[in-house]
Amino acid sequence: MLIRCISCGAEYDLDDVIYTCSKCDSILEVLIDPQVSKDIFKCRKSTMWKYKEFMPVDESKIISLDEGGTPFIKCDRLGEELGVNLHVKVEGSNPTGSFKDRGMSVGITKALELNVDTVGCASTGNTSASLAAYAARAGLKCIVLLPSGKVALGKLAQAMFHGAVVLSVNGNFDEALEAVTALALEGELYLLNSINPFRLEGQKSIGFEIVDDLGWRSPDRIVLPVGNAGNISAIWKGVREFYEAGFIADLPRMTGIQAEGACPITNAVRKGAEDIIPVENPETVATAIRIGAPVSSLKALRAIYDSDGSSDTVSDDEILDAQKLLARTEGIGVEPASASSIAGLKKMVQTGEIDQGEEVVCIVTGHLLKDPNTAINACKEPISIEANAQSLSKVLKGL
Ligand code: F0G
Repeated sequence: MLIRCISCGAEYDLDDVIYTCSKCDSILEVLIDPQVSKDIFKCRKSTMWKYKEFMPVDESKIISLDEGGTPFIKCDRLGEELGVNLHVKVEGSNPTGSFKDRGMSVGITKALELNVDTVGCASTGNTSASLAAYAARAGLKCIVLLPSGKVALGKLAQAMFHGAVVLSVNGNFDEALEAVTALALEGELYLLNSINPFRLEGQKSIGFEIVDDLGWRSPDRIVLPVGNAGNISAIWKGVREFYEAGFIADLPRMTGIQAEGACPITNAVRKGAEDIIPVENPETVATAIRIGAPVSSLKALRAIYDSDGSSDTVSDDEILDAQKLLARTEGIGVEPASASSIAGLKKMVQTGEIDQGEEVVCIVTGHLLKDPNTAINACKEPISIEANAQSLSKVLKGL
């Protein structure tokens, strides 16, 4: 096992505290090649640690809240409406309500291995909520930088309640990340944004679970929201590792969805470019993916190109409509960023980019309650009645 630069191939030790390549400044990945049979996963508890042989940390130090093992829901009603064979992977069911918990479990375990005492991140909300919880469980100090006024209420409540030092930054996510990265490079804290390759090692377990849930085969396509571009890279790494281990015979097409106001990855894919041009002043109702300069863009573009995948954008209205559609046809409540995967799927079936009848897995990344304000604003006021049967009956008759 080692850390390797994805551009120049320079190699580093697993215990080097390093976020970018010291030779060419590109991003890093962890290389791992366990020689195991998939039979060892049988009868294990359904968490991401079911696949512990594929996780590059010391098993005796694992900090876990039983993340992973999330619901994999067959959505026939919605699938029929959209024209595909649809499963939804519900990452809002993780301990703090988003997929970030998978990455934090590995990232915080690594922090303990390295004997650091302070961890930190910049975040659009979910990363900070997750980091705060896992740092609390590990007994580490935690500092999070959030773009002022642009973090959904549930996420802010979590970060504060778990005891992180919460800094409200006068700037957007990209600027906050630059600031905290500079501090991390000076050794002031251990950075747990997804530029840290150990974060993605946890998140790749989403890919493991999808193929395991399907009975050791790949779906035609995985569709997910893309913000800082870590998750699409991680899931692609996961399915590739299981493919290379001989556990599955095919690979899925990775399909990344971005908001129209924050779409550097889609812009690059449309041009066939190898890297992005950052979007200045990104804006979208899906604040989780309000990001203009994704740090994992090189990995994400490779995932899309190597898998013969694609990328598209959706408008804020399309996101909010899809959020409601999923909630009301399948009972799955997700935050706006998560719904962009459903909105993108709908659009790409309409444009013909996704074929009718394809077997698609949509990743919905965070829980509805992360952003209660957007949910309430999308609904009518509750109906006010007197506390008697007559008033209730009147309402029921009007349904
Ligand atoms: N969905 C949700 C709910 C998110 O919180 C994020 C990212 C994404 C999708 C995009 O994933 O960045 O790996 O491409 N949230 C980060 C945060 C940026 O700070 O919580 P990505």
